[in-house]
Amino acid sequence: MTNATAKDDVFLRDLWYFGIVGSEIKPGQMIQKERLGELVLFGRTHDGQAFAMTDICPHRAILLSGGEMVKTETGTQVQCPYHGWRFRPDGQCANIPSLTADQTEGMDISKIKARTYPVHESYGVIWIWFGYDAEAAPCLDPPTLDIPGDSKIRMHDECDFNCDMDAAVISLMDPAHIPYIHNQSWWRTPKTMHEKAKTFGPIERGFSMLPHKPSSNSFIYKLFGTDITTEITLELPGLRPEYMKAGDKHVTTVTIVTPVNAAKTIISVILYWNHPAVSFVPKWLIRRGMHIFMEQDSAAVDSQAIGMSYDPPQMFIHDSDIPAKWYLALRRNWEKHRKEGTDFVNPVKKPTTLRWRS
Ligand code: FES
Ligand SMILES: [Fe+2]
Repeated sequence: MTNATAKDDVFLRDLWYFGIVGSEIKPGQMIQKERLGELVLFGRTHDGQAFAMTDICPHRAILLSGGEMVKTETGTQVQCPYHGWRFRPDGQCANIPSLTADQTEGMDISKIKARTYPVHESYGVIWIWFGYDAEAAPCLDPPTLDIPGDSKIRMHDECDFNCDMDAAVISLMDPAHIPYIHNQSWWRTPKTMHEKAKTFGPIERGFSMLPHKPSSNSFIYKLFGTDITTEITLELPGLRPEYMKAGDKHVTTVTIVTPVNAAKTIISVILYWNHPAVSFVPKWLIRRGMHIFMEQDSAAVDSQAIGMSYDPPQMFIHDSDIPAKWYLALRRNWEKHRKEGTDFVNPVKKPTTLRWRS
């Protein structure tokens, strides 16, 4: 068990989380990020392999990210900036420079380990595994996305939300806020609100707003032509891809919610596409549009976090708040399943149509 699990652990575990976008570290580079309340050092060996270990030196706790990555005959090692101890990507201590020859003989330094995390790199993302048992191997395959052809990241943006993970996920799955929080002429306004019916179905550890024609009041969708369908899925812990497809052309927007710590959450938006219409739009314009959306949501959840700090009751109404209820049930059921060994129960059992105005 990690220290974090021994404390009041608010995070869902035994799941793959978003770590970083792979292009953030080139071979021989490392970067520190906080994930689930832990300081993680993401690194890439000189031959290109991603790894993750604690950023806290097992000797006397200085941050390893202030040190350097050293290329040695046996592979890349992370060298601590304080006393030069070196660690292999598997966390094992490889060198303690202050030891004399006879001290080195009398001490098995391979028993000293920096904590490591399983990682997997796919779709341009380095995913990181957080288990309830920090020593146990992942019990799930890394996330899969339904991206046809090459899955090169075309654009990536991030935004910090000053709220816990649940508030951030719920804001993403909440259709009723869109005409208000994202009230802008080029998207939607309360005036264009009308009744909608969307059918949802279960997927593994989540649910899907099944493929449908996008809303007629969404100007952006019109840009992609008339023959398109869109599907939005939500999978634990906070993976929310939106697949827009027109024949073999696609625009895939993957929004990922990741807890930095109990009070801060990062939203990453990653775009993949092969649709020619998108390639004509200047990238700065797409980025600006994406960022406006995230800032609007971020301002809303910041304000909500102030309200929530007074511990008020919350209401979930039919049908627009049902996805939020499903998410909370998924979360509860996953925790129970992993901690008590009961079967995992998906709250969405069969295709269900929800109706609301937005
Ligand atoms: S604190 Fe890292 S080597 Fe001493
Ligand atoms: Fe939003």
